[in-house]
Amino acid sequence: MKTLIKNGRIITAVDDYKADILIEDERVSVIGSQLNMEADQVLDATDKLVIPGGIDPHTHMELPFGGTESSDDFRTGTIAAAHGGTTSIIDFAVQYKGQSLIEGIDNWHKKAEGKTAIDYGFHLITTELEDKQIEELYTVMDEGVTSFKMFMAYPGVFLVDDATIFRAMSAAGSRGGLICMHAENGIVINEIIKRAIEKGHTAPKYHALTRPTVAEAEGVHRAIAIAEMAESPVYIVHLSCADALNQVRQARDRGIAAFAETCPQYLFLSIDDYGEDFNGAKYVMTPPLREKSNQTELWKGLKMDDLQVISTDHCPFCMKEQKELGRDDFTKIPNGAPGVENRVPLIYNGGVVESRISLNRFVELTSTAAAKMFGLFPKKGTVAVGSDADIVIFDGEKEQTLSSKTHHMNCDYNAYEGRRIKGVVETVLSRGKVVIDKGEFKGKYGDGKFLKRGTCVSI
Ligand code: URP
Ligand code: ZN
Ligand code: ZN
Repeated sequence: MKTLIKNGRIITAVDDYKADILIEDERVSVIGSQLNMEADQVLDATDKLVIPGGIDPHTHMELPFGGTESSDDFRTGTIAAAHGGTTSIIDFAVQYKGQSLIEGIDNWHKKAEGKTAIDYGFHLITTELEDKQIEELYTVMDEGVTSFKMFMAYPGVFLVDDATIFRAMSAAGSRGGLICMHAENGIVINEIIKRAIEKGHTAPKYHALTRPTVAEAEGVHRAIAIAEMAESPVYIVHLSCADALNQVRQARDRGIAAFAETCPQYLFLSIDDYGEDFNGAKYVMTPPLREKSNQTELWKGLKMDDLQVISTDHCPFCMKEQKELGRDDFTKIPNGAPGVENRVPLIYNGGVVESRISLNRFVELTSTAAAKMFGLFPKKGTVAVGSDADIVIFDGEKEQTLSSKTHHMNCDYNAYEGRRIKGVVETVLSRGKVVIDKGEFKGKYGDGKFLKRGTCVSI
């Protein structure tokens, strides 16, 4: 099967030029001007941007959490991702306490297999790691799961102690693996929450008011210090605020291999969105939304490479029957929000259209950097000869209004409801196959392949 993309403006993390692209089967085979080879289909990209498919390295499909399960499964979630110009996700498998690491991975393979519309990989949430399990960690890495998430938050559920973090960092780091850290002092936060509940502070906004930025900054500082002692890199997930960013910045200035991602919700939403009533449950996610002033600092961090990646932390729960579990007590609201479909257009609009970042940096933040960080580059994350033909034809002039009425995520609200933005995903190819054509899903769920990842090439 041959596909020719004609007359597009190709943008990668480093290039910006007009050319045609010939795709043969799953890969890009030729890039050049005025190509006139025979092809089975020709896609006209005149006046459009041609960018590498987005990579979202932080999603939670079908995640059991807070007495319920995130509402997108691997079918609905990956179809929604494709609509939004994302062609690879890295989801978080879970090793629950008492399970082996391999059991955790196997369980996620069972959830995803035969269901995804785009390619997918896994990180492993690791809740226990004794010395005797280190060999198993290496086995997991050999099977293409080369990054592990550990939590300093959620005591009694996911939280691990510093000794476990140190062991994991030493082991993973020695083989080029990466620890992804949920950095928040969950122990102190729980004490603050107890006091709030005693005072009858049960509305959603108290989720934010009981998780101060200093609790996140302390977690980031500790994670980086442990990584330094373990002589390993560290990647901070869903960084939300200036206090935490400053910890990363200071470490990087000292030459420490500290990396971090932020998410659209911390760039475009703020603590004001919680309001006074239960509608604020839509934004109960961890870390919580912050004071607006943090947004400027996060954009600065993205521009100056103190933040390298923009993921979503897509973890949707419907208001009906799910968020409602915490109607009388914010601690019972399942944590998380939808976003996988909106990331690429939101960052294009807020970043490029609003002149905060260049087109190249937009591509780097939404695709290339994640590919390099998580061992997928150059198969993924760029438009180049030999790379997978994961390509988005993007209309940078057309506008859209974000809404739950039109989105494809299995969630009864959109966190950006009514927001008018410039930038629309027109056509999406996943390994050479058109999966989105003028906004219509033309792919097949089950066509997505598991991504056996290598190690980080960002250092
Ligand atoms: O609120 C969030 N972020 N839910 C998903 C779990 C996590 O901590 O990433
Ligand atoms: Zn987390
Ligand atoms: Zn998450």
